[in-house]
Amino acid sequence: MSNIISDKAVLVTCGLPYANGKAHVGHLRTYIPADIYVRSLKKNLQEVIFVCGSDTHGTPIVVNAEKLGIAPKELVQKYHVHFDELFKKMDIRFDAFGTTDDATNHKRTLDIVDRLIEKGYVYPKIIEIAYCPQCTRFLPDRYVAGTCPHCGEKARGDECDQGCGKHLEPGELKEPLCTICRGPAEYKEQEHFFFRLSDFADFLVKHLENLGGTLNARNYALGWVKQELSDWCITRNLEWGVKFPGHDDLVVYVWVDAPIGYIAFTEQWAKANGGDWEKFWKGDCPIVHFIGGDIIYHHCIFWPAMLKGAEYSQPSAVVASGMLKIEDKTFSKSRGYVVWVEEDYLDQGFHPDLLRYYLASYTSHTKEVNFSWNIFQDKINTELVGVMGNFLYRNLLFAYKNFGAVPEGEIDPQVMEKIDLTIDEVKRANGEYEFKKAADTAMSLASYGNSYFQSNEPWKLIKENRDACGRVIKNCMQIAKALVLLFEPITPASMEAAWKQIGMDSDVHTAVYDEANVHVVSGTELIKPEILFTKIDDEKIAEMETISSKRVKAAMAKEAGIKEVEIMEYKEEIEYDDFAKLDIRVGKIITAEKIRKSKKLLRLEVDIGDDEPRQVVAGLAENYEPKEMLGKTVNIIVNLKPVKLCGVESQGMLLAADSGDNVSLLTTDKEMEPGSSIR
Ligand code: 2FM
Ligand code: ZN
Repeated sequence: MSNIISDKAVLVTCGLPYANGKAHVGHLRTYIPADIYVRSLKKNLQEVIFVCGSDTHGTPIVVNAEKLGIAPKELVQKYHVHFDELFKKMDIRFDAFGTTDDATNHKRTLDIVDRLIEKGYVYPKIIEIAYCPQCTRFLPDRYVAGTCPHCGEKARGDECDQGCGKHLEPGELKEPLCTICRGPAEYKEQEHFFFRLSDFADFLVKHLENLGGTLNARNYALGWVKQELSDWCITRNLEWGVKFPGHDDLVVYVWVDAPIGYIAFTEQWAKANGGDWEKFWKGDCPIVHFIGGDIIYHHCIFWPAMLKGAEYSQPSAVVASGMLKIEDKTFSKSRGYVVWVEEDYLDQGFHPDLLRYYLASYTSHTKEVNFSWNIFQDKINTELVGVMGNFLYRNLLFAYKNFGAVPEGEIDPQVMEKIDLTIDEVKRANGEYEFKKAADTAMSLASYGNSYFQSNEPWKLIKENRDACGRVIKNCMQIAKALVLLFEPITPASMEAAWKQIGMDSDVHTAVYDEANVHVVSGTELIKPEILFTKIDDEKIAEMETISSKRVKAAMAKEAGIKEVEIMEYKEEIEYDDFAKLDIRVGKIITAEKIRKSKKLLRLEVDIGDDEPRQVVAGLAENYEPKEMLGKTVNIIVNLKPVKLCGVESQGMLLAADSGDNVSLLTTDKEMEPGSSIR
């Protein structure tokens, strides 16, 4: 049965990451399923173009660059390269990965904005814009913070991020504050440009009713459209961005030029590959957007209205992923609930395929995913290693050792039927954006393979009936072939190796599902198989959990205004008697001088209430001038065995607090007689 979604080429896009910070697992929550979807469509004989790129404009980027003292261009270039490389490392293969600052995107944005202006969908209006009298500048979006007019929670300029989640228009925020100087902002009148979104209400209802993708996107947007739609301010007072035509002091709002990037990247793909971008954006080839659940409004309301107004084609489907939690806590970079893909995952030696499997199979695409190191370990060890890896390895090793090639034998029709049904089910699930169902169904074929192997007992058969054993193994090879094809979209690198191990010399990435029906060829030589997935051990998980909890503690300390703390490591426990062996006294410094030939040491004489002062050599020369030591009351251990330092005998040790970059002598809270004991 064929489950091809369209006989036309399909364009798949992924929400553009802001080129403003490193990639974290939250990003991959959308990109990995999108990549799986694309690979699966290709396996189903569907022509697919997959594009994405960096979102390089908007105030967060300008604010961040300003903080770092660099130009926005420099900042976005750095993160653009980071994302591009990281996606490749995670085997997320875009046909084009551009940036919204590319000339193609500037040009396409101007074309669309000009067309909207021409058609009367854009009009000027004097509005109140937050202005900081201290910084003498207008405050677009993230430059201003305040109170949400709808729910009263703290919010930022363009979005009620901590409360009701509504998109906020310039001027709506109450009690505005400048985020640069933290001083109060005021509202000042200024001319801005608005898109007549309200004209598109009827169009949007129809568009959304026919929109494919996941229901969470469609229903959320329909809820909004059925309320009153306000016109949308599409200009900002910034220098960085795509200039608004005829107004050098204005750029278009980032949510105008960012989705237009989808068109620009398709144009770039077309130019590089002799393709036709217009068949998607001006024709009727389907467009599928994969996005995070937090940007449904922009993709289901602003974007189709803009496209319609400028006479471009509109998306056919919007697939919105559920959000990510880290160890059951709401994802938050500032609170330390984050897993960075590079340093916390790849650099720790974890294979990309494991995370791909986890994110695809944890839960259904529209639900929340919890990333927990423990659950990660459990899923990988029991499912990927214990079921899938186990079947492939035990069967391939047995085949290699006992036959050295794919053995002779008939393929059991029941095995073929199981394979066919599984493939149909996986195709259907992927086509319906049910990636967990697809992964679980594929995994069930591996379980079937294990039971088939186990119940046929080839290790006994090989001694009694070699031909019968060969038949069993050939059937297992057929199951393995189907499994490799089914898992290629999820774990592509491991399946590339597995494909070779089952004796295939074609490219597994371009091989299609239908190949699972082609019988494995007896006599095909086999190579010695290698284990594809290995168990993650408890120590590694404990190490990862320590890294995570350190990060959360450091974030808490930072929030509380305390210097970031390392997790304390204490010396071994001692008895009171051990402590009581120390004779610590109050002393007063009566002489202090530098020791020649040493940068660090001071020679001190300390009155400890005895006839003779004690001579002490202390490593304090970098922290104290000799003369500021004179007369100080100190705590001194007087029963340490004397040692010679730089030829000078030290007859005691002063106590001092040491933070690593600061040293402070311990003294007494009240004036005390030299010789008083310290307990
Ligand atoms: O929310 C975000 O991360 C945006 N950078 C997504 C933009 S997607 C598209 F519209 F360009
Ligand atoms: Zn709100």
